[in-house]
Amino acid sequence: MLPGPAPRQLIGPAGTSLRRFRSTSSMQGFSELARERSKTVTSFYNQSAIDASAEKVSSSAKYLHKELPVRIAHRIKGFRSLPFIIGCNPTILQVHELYIRAYHMLSDFPQIKDQDMEARFCKLVQQLLDDHKDVVTMLAQGFRECRRHIQDETIIRNFLDTTLCSRLGIRMLATHHLALQEDNPDFVGIICRRLSPKKIIEKWVDFARRLCEHQYGNSPRVRINGHVAARFPFIPLPLDYILPELLKNAMRATMESHLDTPYNVPDVVVTIANNDIDFVIRISDRGGGIPHHIIDKVMDYHFSTAEESAQDPRMSNIFNNITNSGNQSSPMHGFGFGLPTSRAYAEYLGGSLSIQSMQGIGTDVYLRLRHIDGKGESFRV
Ligand SMILES: Nc1ncnc2c1ncn2[C@@H]1O[C@H](COP(=O)(O)OP(=O)(O)OP(=O)(O)O)[C@@H](O)[C@H]1O
Ligand SMILES: [Mg+2]
Repeated sequence: MLPGPAPRQLIGPAGTSLRRFRSTSSMQGFSELARERSKTVTSFYNQSAIDASAEKVSSSAKYLHKELPVRIAHRIKGFRSLPFIIGCNPTILQVHELYIRAYHMLSDFPQIKDQDMEARFCKLVQQLLDDHKDVVTMLAQGFRECRRHIQDETIIRNFLDTTLCSRLGIRMLATHHLALQEDNPDFVGIICRRLSPKKIIEKWVDFARRLCEHQYGNSPRVRINGHVAARFPFIPLPLDYILPELLKNAMRATMESHLDTPYNVPDVVVTIANNDIDFVIRISDRGGGIPHHIIDKVMDYHFSTAEESAQDPRMSNIFNNITNSGNQSSPMHGFGFGLPTSRAYAEYLGGSLSIQSMQGIGTDVYLRLRHIDGKGESFRV
């Protein structure tokens, strides 16, 4: 997941008055200056008012300080109730310990009383976001190593759905708090006031095409149609996870179903539909579709056809160049986490992710997300 914005530089009242002093050049300016000075003198005696405003810490920091340890404690409980054989896996244990450490660092943090402490709290939150950035990959790796010991698939699905969505919620709250401290007119915290679905899709198309070209030597073009001019308030963060996953899948399918003609591949088409209640992004590829015998499995964690691709002689050359090992994971595909994680995130946000495969032709993936403009029913993080 992307690291959040840096904590703010605290701009105190001194910064404000400095600006005002600089603009004084006329007589009027001089009298303003004198007034300022006399204010400074009187305020010297009005210490209590100064103390009171210095103590004004945002309710957002206080809320986070209370809320984060509670959420993390629930996750730790989740790790503790995993079957023993999974809980003992070194990679899973490592994540479990990261959560325990975060819990202690947050709950040991003293009550936030002034702006100095608030700034320190922001630093801690930023540090924890960084420390936890690889958690999804670690969980994917850890469960892959030990899932064969587990008969009951639902244990793994429930644990991962809950843990990954809770993590998304925590990261949204944390980055929102950090972003609130920044001065960006287009944003309120992590909420973009006028998000353009087209723009954010284009950003991830560029990213996915670069990966695809690196891996397959070419990439399909992507056409975007539908409500391309739509703009509305939304949180880019979940889209920043989901869109690259869906685009990578569509491009991979396109390239792998045209291995004999890699320089002549069909476009991927992305359609945007916006309405009062929600917005839908459909990603259509002509990558041959998802075969009948695997369609029910593609939403399972760890289900991936990456290994089979690697065994295709036309692919193995490309593959060995990239991975340099027997490990079939690459940035393009590999853990079988793209679809299940995207669906869990979409549902967590009150939306859905569904797939229609036209076997022999291609696949349509529909990502549906509810608006957050307060007009309709929305989601709680
Ligand atoms: N657009 C598509 N066309 C054809 N098959 C698809 C498409 N999207 C997904 N699949 C199939 O579903 C499987 C699971 O997809 P998923 O994104 O969850 O995992 P992955 O792409 O294999 O690995 P990861 O996304 O974790 O890197 C893929 O391996 C592929 O076989
Ligand atoms: Mg994928």
